[in-house]
Amino acid sequence: MNELEKLKLDLKNLNEEAAKIRELEREKRAEFGRKLNLQKQEILAQIAAAERRAINKDVVPIDITAPCNVNEKLPEYYSVEQGSRHPLMTELDRVTEIYQMMGFDVLESRQLDDEYHMFDSLNFAKEHPARDGYDTFRTEEGLIPPAHTSSMQNRALKKYKSRLDEGKPIAVVIPGRVYRNEDVDATHEHTFYQCEGVYVSTDCTMSQMLGILREFFEKYYEQKLNIRTQPGYFPFTEPSLEFMIEKPFALGGKKGEFLEMLGCGMIHPNVLKVAGINPEKYHGFAWGGGIDRLVMLKYRLPDVRYFESGNLQFLREFK
Ligand code: DAH
Repeated sequence: MNELEKLKLDLKNLNEEAAKIRELEREKRAEFGRKLNLQKQEILAQIAAAERRAINKDVVPIDITAPCNVNEKLPEYYSVEQGSRHPLMTELDRVTEIYQMMGFDVLESRQLDDEYHMFDSLNFAKEHPARDGYDTFRTEEGLIPPAHTSSMQNRALKKYKSRLDEGKPIAVVIPGRVYRNEDVDATHEHTFYQCEGVYVSTDCTMSQMLGILREFFEKYYEQKLNIRTQPGYFPFTEPSLEFMIEKPFALGGKKGEFLEMLGCGMIHPNVLKVAGINPEKYHGFAWGGGIDRLVMLKYRLPDVRYFESGNLQFLREFK
């Protein structure tokens, strides 16, 4: 019989003893009960202590100074599924990497901006309906979650304009998250990503811009592409173009099926002027287009809403 069993037997005997109280004379009962009760408390305390000792007997104390092998595989119960980078972040890195190889700097956009950077500095006339075309959200203070990465143009021009004095061009790309108050469907999201490009020098031309864009898309899709442009309208470029690529056969495209990938053009003199750059002396071109659309084509994804869905099944495909 171990210690605990012995104590439990003592308790049982004590309870049997207590039953004898009825056989005693009335005046002796109180004294008898008090004594037994004290004994019972004492035994219960000893049982609790013995139980605690029995539990702790099997616990091996942790030795935090013991050496451990970091290469040892952890036991199964430690294996928690690791998260992974969002596919849009991986692809954005690829996009900026290609431009960096061509000599562009990278500047990050911001997630809250103002009327000046979203519209005024980009030659949008006050009260012009083109402002409504962007379906912007607004905070109660009147700030704007940017509806395009062009809202960074003025900052980029100011940040890098000293390069022009050194006889070098401004060459920068600006990836960023943008927001539009849109009706959401398979090809429209309220939150998506864009990448902006800005180039300024004394002698740049539209054909240089088209060469850069072609090079970018052919690197990104790792194949030769047919490109096409058509006239467009943006207040911040003159002339403005829409740039299209023929949807590659390998990605489900048919001959003659063109997709609009971005807007572009020669930077409007007013945009250079408000950034403190003399438009008589310098010229620039700029472009901006959606990243989600670019990635959807690469992976043949049918629905843009996957990106913001947090759907694990979708995200695991890109691990
Ligand atoms: N910001 C325009 C948009 O989101 C796209 C764009 C067009 C950007 C022309 C440019 C540009 O830099 O020159 O619709």
